[in-house]
Amino acid sequence: MDMEALKRQAAARALERVTGGMKLGLGTGSTARHFVDLLGEKVRAGMKVIGVPTSEATRAQAEQCGIALTTLDEVDRLDLTVDGADEVDPALNLIKGGGGALLREKIVAAASDRMIVIADETKWVDTLGRFPLPVEVIPFGLGATRRAMEQAFAVAGVSGQMVLRKGKDGHAFVTDGGHWIVDGHLGRIADAPRLASLLNAIPGVVETGLFVGLASTVILAGVNGIRVVERR
Ligand code: 5RP
Repeated sequence: MDMEALKRQAAARALERVTGGMKLGLGTGSTARHFVDLLGEKVRAGMKVIGVPTSEATRAQAEQCGIALTTLDEVDRLDLTVDGADEVDPALNLIKGGGGALLREKIVAAASDRMIVIADETKWVDTLGRFPLPVEVIPFGLGATRRAMEQAFAVAGVSGQMVLRKGKDGHAFVTDGGHWIVDGHLGRIADAPRLASLLNAIPGVVETGLFVGLASTVILAGVNGIRVVERR
């Protein structure tokens, strides 16, 4: 079975939890893309939902699929966000931001009553950190921010290279919010909540890809079927 088929299976399982009238956060990435696609089919068949996209890419896709959209200025809370992840650990902490949408993804997830993560089984890890940790930063004063990040890494007991993410044009990748991303190649993050709070205390850091305590359910699709893990 190919990876795209697994991602679509996870997306289809998440869609079973969507009912008419829901306000939904719409994630970003190749797995979330399947979800938006399948949701579009439901909408065209008559289901009424309203969505808040977590990136300009998802906004464009959702509009094409005919999904009604709103913003977090117009609605108070969302019922559910469905999004992908780069890594998931057994506490349902996540690394996100491989696609560069971590800031909007976190704002939307935090405004949602529940967050379902959809992924293929390769995203499940014992300890976060094999996937480079995306940290969204302000371009101004990047040197100072990087030095402060290095100190935060040391205090949290991690170390590794920091790499400024580049776009296809070879220049710094620019997020939907106009910021840059530094990817921390840390290998192993023993205490994700501590590292997240240390990094978030740095003035030049906008947000990190560590999603702590936000996911309520993870749907993992593998060759032997689907595994659903609920937050305890
Ligand atoms: C984008 C993300 C994605 O959800 C994450 O990168 C997973 O993407 P994919 O489903 O393509 O593996 O956080 O910022």
